[in-house]
Amino acid sequence: MIDFKALAQKYDTPLYIYDFGRITAQYEKLKKAFSGRKSLISYAVKANSNLSVIGHLAELGAGADCVSIGEVRRALMAGVPKYKIIFSGVGKRDDEIEEALKNDILLLNLESEAEMDRVEAIARNLGQKARISIRVNPNIDPKTHPYISTGLHENKFGVDIETAKRMYIRANQSDHLDPVGIHFHIGSQLTELDPIKEASMIVADLVRSLLAIKIELKFFDVGGGLGIVYDKETTIEPYDYAQAILGTLHGLDVTVICEPGRFMVGNAGWFLTRVLYEKVNEGKRFIVVDGAMNDLLRPSLYDAYHKVEVVGKSGGETPADVVGPVCESGDFFAKNRPLPPTEHGDVVVVHSAGAYGFVMASNYNTRPRPAEVAIVEGKDRCIRQRETFEDLVRLEKMCL
Ligand code: LLP
Repeated sequence: MIDFKALAQKYDTPLYIYDFGRITAQYEKLKKAFSGRKSLISYAVKANSNLSVIGHLAELGAGADCVSIGEVRRALMAGVPKYKIIFSGVGKRDDEIEEALKNDILLLNLESEAEMDRVEAIARNLGQKARISIRVNPNIDPKTHPYISTGLHENKFGVDIETAKRMYIRANQSDHLDPVGIHFHIGSQLTELDPIKEASMIVADLVRSLLAIKIELKFFDVGGGLGIVYDKETTIEPYDYAQAILGTLHGLDVTVICEPGRFMVGNAGWFLTRVLYEKVNEGKRFIVVDGAMNDLLRPSLYDAYHKVEVVGKSGGETPADVVGPVCESGDFFAKNRPLPPTEHGDVVVVHSAGAYGFVMASNYNTRPRPAEVAIVEGKDRCIRQRETFEDLVRLEKMCL
């Protein structure tokens, strides 16, 4: 049991807490599900890019799925071997491509023909052969929130099957491109297996048709997206997930890569905030806390559900909105939740905050971002200090 009250006292609030033991358990579950097959769990750094989090996963053997050169640098800094780093993303700049090639990472995942031309030109300038994969858009509805659904043609991601085939044929003839992999990612917070299976089948068919023309891919990257329980969702078991994918790979000798973010860290993290005031407006109850949408954006942005608890209190629950001090009506963590009466200083825990929490935080309303604390073998360690006002204005200059 984590003593949230003691941590709030020691580190102040708002605060992020991560249990590294839980991260380990998630990694092991997924790795085990793919055992018996060559596989690489490439952690989607975007979910939580704290160096200690990446470093912990690297120690367990994970690679890193990165979407900016900044994330690639973090992965390298945190000790992920370069041959386990993937660089994806729909809009890579020339300087990012160049740095990734110079770092000799595992591969660049391409999302358009135009991008392939850039990568080829930059690799030629460097006298290199760039290892690439192509992100295929299998046109599958993943049945998740529209903002985090990516596998339909109406989304900006990847290329269609025919374009991909043409790109592989061209890449295979180039002196500066080495097509080694294929990739798809249909969305995030997936709770249904069928769309994943269907996408995997479509992409595996393409890999087989490439093999028939002597283009032999080594890496089959199934993206991320495994959902977690926030409320009462039924989630996909890692074993079933692996079986569904492996079942589509007959006739192929490929290393399966998967890029989980949320699954690894989502339920290993909590956000702590303290009650400032309670108030009632015409019968509607509000609990005003010291954390806000700038610290944890998911409820405001996606209307996402996060379980909320008042530490050490129960009984006398009535519906309340838990809201922050930011001047926006969208600044809330929970709406109409049965919560006990609270007092100034009570600690409120927001659950499932390990993924897309701190990384999406901002300084809106000139609010310093929270500190981050890791629980490692029962001990708490600060892995990112709370920002200060001075941090926030450091890069600004008065021009008058
Ligand atoms: N691979 C690719 C290509 C991705 O685009 C993503 C997430 C992942 C892997 C990792 O997905 P995961 O396993 O974490 O579901 N901010 C949103 C989630 C955005 C996900 C973007 N892409 C949220 O808070 O729900």
